[in-house]
Amino acid sequence: MNAPRLIQIGADDADAVHAELIAGLAAARPAVPPKFFYDALGSRLFAAITELPEYYPTRTEAAILREHLAAIAAAVGPAPTLVDLGAGNCEKAARLFEALAVRRYVAVDIAAEYLLSALDRLQYQHPDMELLGVGLDFSSALALPEVVGPGPRLLFYPGSSIGNFSPDAALAFLRRMHAACAGGRLLIGVDLVKPRDVLEAAYDDALGVTAAFNRNLLARLNRLIGADFVLADWRHVAFHDAARSRIEMHLEAARDVTVRWSGGERHFTRGERIHTENSYKWRLDDFADLLVAAGFRPPRAWRDPRDWFAVFAAEA
Ligand code: AVJ
Repeated sequence: MNAPRLIQIGADDADAVHAELIAGLAAARPAVPPKFFYDALGSRLFAAITELPEYYPTRTEAAILREHLAAIAAAVGPAPTLVDLGAGNCEKAARLFEALAVRRYVAVDIAAEYLLSALDRLQYQHPDMELLGVGLDFSSALALPEVVGPGPRLLFYPGSSIGNFSPDAALAFLRRMHAACAGGRLLIGVDLVKPRDVLEAAYDDALGVTAAFNRNLLARLNRLIGADFVLADWRHVAFHDAARSRIEMHLEAARDVTVRWSGGERHFTRGERIHTENSYKWRLDDFADLLVAAGFRPPRAWRDPRDWFAVFAAEA
């Protein structure tokens, strides 16, 4: 049996992280990038979100991939090297291994420790496959290591994680993906425009798991910058902005609070918010155009019967 390998790229420069977080908190419109959600607990809370009845994206995408697996495999397979961006628990990619005849699986995620346990589990199920974990913040640079090997790659970017990027930033990121899969292909999941009530429920579930996921960010900040956020002082807010076609998530101060961290502090008046995430929703044609603008050939797309989610396959 092979053993998974794990490499860390651009290993967390604590000073840079500190500076990025403090600049965000001190800004006129305070914000923290969503990549900071994914510590060990945050990754598990996100996995729990994907099980919620209100959170349709994961199961809708899984149904599309299941339903259209043969056509998708014909469009993008065989894919001896599969590179999974934001692999998390690696479950989505694993369901493609057989149909795409994957031999080398490269799981890239910002939460590297979480990857290793997922890859250990996978290796038992696929003893002959070569499994590689790459701890990398690919939102800032998509530098895939040499070890990914030569030959065409299939980049897999599921879950509508592209929705975290503004349209301009999404175009820039797709261009970097295009460069990273020259001669290969991209398989990407994209959440589509849909009624507001469906969207808002998906990001503010009855059980409060999304609220916990959002507020866990404060516990992470306490550790990363030595802050003293009191979680009970902050509430989860999620709403749809139709003009920008996005869900916004914020943490809102429930009372006046002063938060201190190593080297600084900030007063938040009641109702003031820290912006933690945007989740853009696309129209099918607009996203196809975006792929072409990024350098890909005109894509194919598969959707669910409600037109809530799309999976695009595009040749680089
Ligand atoms: C992982 C970015 C796709 O935007 O739906 C889920 C993250 N945030 N619930 C999304 C998320 C709150 C998710 N992505």
